[in-house]
Amino acid sequence: GGAGFAGSRLLGSSAPVGPRAAVVAETESARRVTGKVVRRTLRAAPTTVDLAGRAVQTWAYDGVVPGKELRATAGDVVRVRLANDLPEDTTVHWHGLALRNDMDGVPGLTQDPVGAGASFDYEFVVPNPGTHWFHPHVGAQLDRGLQAPLIVEDPREPMNYDEEVVLVLDDWTDGWGDSPDVILDRLAREGMGGTSMTGTDHGEMDMEEAMPSDDQPLGADTGDVVYPVQLINGRVPEDPFVINAAPGRRIRLRIINAGGDTPYRFAISGHRLNVTHTDGYQVDPTEVDTLIIGMGERYDVVVTTDDGAFAVVAVPEGKAAPPGFAVLRTASGATPDPNSLPAELTGRLLSYADLRATESAALEPRQPDREIGLGLQMVDGGRQWFINGAAYGDHDPLEIRSGERVRLVMHNESMMFHPMHVHGHTFALVGQNGRGIRKDTINVKPMESLSVDVRADNPGQWLVHCHNIYHGELGMMTVLSYV
Ligand code: C2O
Ligand code: CU
Repeated sequence: GGAGFAGSRLLGSSAPVGPRAAVVAETESARRVTGKVVRRTLRAAPTTVDLAGRAVQTWAYDGVVPGKELRATAGDVVRVRLANDLPEDTTVHWHGLALRNDMDGVPGLTQDPVGAGASFDYEFVVPNPGTHWFHPHVGAQLDRGLQAPLIVEDPREPMNYDEEVVLVLDDWTDGWGDSPDVILDRLAREGMGGTSMTGTDHGEMDMEEAMPSDDQPLGADTGDVVYPVQLINGRVPEDPFVINAAPGRRIRLRIINAGGDTPYRFAISGHRLNVTHTDGYQVDPTEVDTLIIGMGERYDVVVTTDDGAFAVVAVPEGKAAPPGFAVLRTASGATPDPNSLPAELTGRLLSYADLRATESAALEPRQPDREIGLGLQMVDGGRQWFINGAAYGDHDPLEIRSGERVRLVMHNESMMFHPMHVHGHTFALVGQNGRGIRKDTINVKPMESLSVDVRADNPGQWLVHCHNIYHGELGMMTVLSYV
């Protein structure tokens, strides 16, 4: 079960968890509110989903993968009753929200885990607009179907598009290969040597044929686990998700990488992507042909539809695995072939340095008060993943103070890809004359160093971790702690 979750080691199983309640309540009451309440119940349970005729056992919210979107407006109060019908502990983490600390969903740190058969009421003001998502923060549960979009609208945002579509990208193994729990166990025992697919049922997929043939700019493997299937909005290529639209429409795509261990290279045949938001924050619109989206990251892009039927693809980056596939259709006619990859995949590739936050999204320039180095390390052939020489639970918390500007300097000392996520805050990439993009999750490439600035304005204890779910579970997490 979830007993192995490293978080419980941090404070000990009987210690009360969570930050000082009064400080958290005070911060919460200072947030701007609309007066509207969004209510929802969320039932996490074992589920059978149908993937193009294949009945697959997995875990999901309310029986569907991805879970039903939760949509609110910035300033709304969200009230969600989580009913845990799983056979083990769970929680919900609201990825991307700078919310009150005691609702952040980290067991052993911000709340007690929600036991099998129990329920928990989450209630918080939704502070920041954007394309976000939610998922458990226990074990490898995220790598089953337990994830869903969380869309926060901004009434002040100019509406320069006609329609919007949410696209959830997901690497998938249940029903084809081993379950995420089995994979996690094997990685802990065998490390990277034990990561090739050893499931029982891969014969029918021709991996060689499906892999992208273009260059791999990351120069290394990007993950430990190769997945036999990728889903876009819970659909396999044989029965793809279809975006139906008229030609000449501006469609805002909210793209979420909910995968456990797969960065995706995303493109649409015959279309350019006009990037408008990174992790919910506006950027000066920038046109590219393709972009790489790491686990936990989100991009909003606007696409102006052409006339026809077009392939929408999510190709696992740096992995020999088949692509995820959907269709953009504005006219009748043949459905594109999922195996012929769009030329856009080798066109202009987005890099962070191409983007600048808009004036209103930028973090006001200021010298950092404190600098924290985070060395990202592979240990023991990938059986463990460390930050600064220790696994989660063995660190002293990284102390910060309210009101500070904190610079996180991340050094990737490994040959793997680490999408690093900070809870409860957004950060700004250092550079671009103070207009570095705002994000909460950022890919740190092999051997790369990258600095981000955090405005310390949300008291509590906050995880910083790799969003490769296996790296995180095998130790690559630590805590920023307000003192
Ligand atoms: Cu998407 Cu620690 O979370
Ligand atoms: Cu990692």
